[in-house]
Amino acid sequence: MSEREPVAQDTAKGPPETDPRIAGEKHPVARMLAIGVIASLIGIAICLLIDWFPTSASGAAGQIDTLYDVLLICSVPVFVLVMTIAIYSVVRFRAKPGDMGDGPPIHGNTRLEVIWVTIPFIMVTALAIYGWIVLDDIEAKQQNELVVNVTGQQFTWTFEYPDQNVNSNELVLPLDRPVDFRIKTRDVLHSFWVPEFRLKSDAVPGLTTKIRLTPDRIGNYEVVCAELCGLGHSTMRQFVRVLPAGEFDRWAQRRAEEGEGGAPAGESGEGAQGGGGGAAAEGEQIFTAQGCGSCHALAAANASGTVGPDLGKLQDTDASFVRESIVEPSAEVEQGFPDGVMPTDFGDKLSPEELNALVKYLLESQE
Ligand code: CUA
Repeated sequence: MSEREPVAQDTAKGPPETDPRIAGEKHPVARMLAIGVIASLIGIAICLLIDWFPTSASGAAGQIDTLYDVLLICSVPVFVLVMTIAIYSVVRFRAKPGDMGDGPPIHGNTRLEVIWVTIPFIMVTALAIYGWIVLDDIEAKQQNELVVNVTGQQFTWTFEYPDQNVNSNELVLPLDRPVDFRIKTRDVLHSFWVPEFRLKSDAVPGLTTKIRLTPDRIGNYEVVCAELCGLGHSTMRQFVRVLPAGEFDRWAQRRAEEGEGGAPAGESGEGAQGGGGGAAAEGEQIFTAQGCGSCHALAAANASGTVGPDLGKLQDTDASFVRESIVEPSAEVEQGFPDGVMPTDFGDKLSPEELNALVKYLLESQE
């Protein structure tokens, strides 16, 4: 028996009779439409009244918030349409208790199908074009950009300012100057996100991703990792400070001078003891640059991480134990802390001299 046969029979019988369950209703479609329009207006009003967004601190935030509002305004009627028809059908066409029969076979309705394909197609295409225009505008290259290289690793961000010759664990940005972020990762996927700037980009192994934005509000905000990257993911948070341009320049200059004061990482020769505590300064620099402080507390470095043990209160202050704990963190895991959280590649990332300096620094920093 062919599927289509019942339809042929229906046509043979002439126009179908009105379904007895809606026989008493005069204009079911008009009523649904009226309910739908009122519900949509209420829904849109509620959506626009809710304060969805955090403070906006970048030039792109306004455009992005408007785009978000337009998406909400378009989504509410679609949601209401689907729900109105679904609820109406459930109430009106509910099977009577004990009715185990199948419903009548329906072949389809070409007019309805054309409508429900065409309208969503036009909506989605129009929104995609709108989104693309906004994205294109936000990503446009600008004059006098400040380049910041962002590097994610388990579980910290580091920021490098190549033109200023500065490395920092804190993101400091000048007000009203376009910033070109180039985002990389040393290990797994992370996602660089400052909610107040609205823009977010994944840090993908093997790629450099980019975002551009112009901070336009002085203040302190948080850099958040928005991609589950391991047990310390939720601690992968740092600060952004947006400063007036002059203050930023002074900060960058001070940081650059500090950076040159210490021996450049990895290039210090043996016995470079002169220069007033060079090894300790280098050790602290490595501790900061490697992001140890995002997981470990160390009073000497103002670090207060809680993912791993407090490094200012080492149980065993033997240099070879400290070295082993850095290079092979699973060899001996302190009680109360999970195994497998600390990255195991510090032995590759650090040169032997850097490792020495870090071990020495940690041993000197015991409370
Ligand atoms: Cu890095 Cu989550």
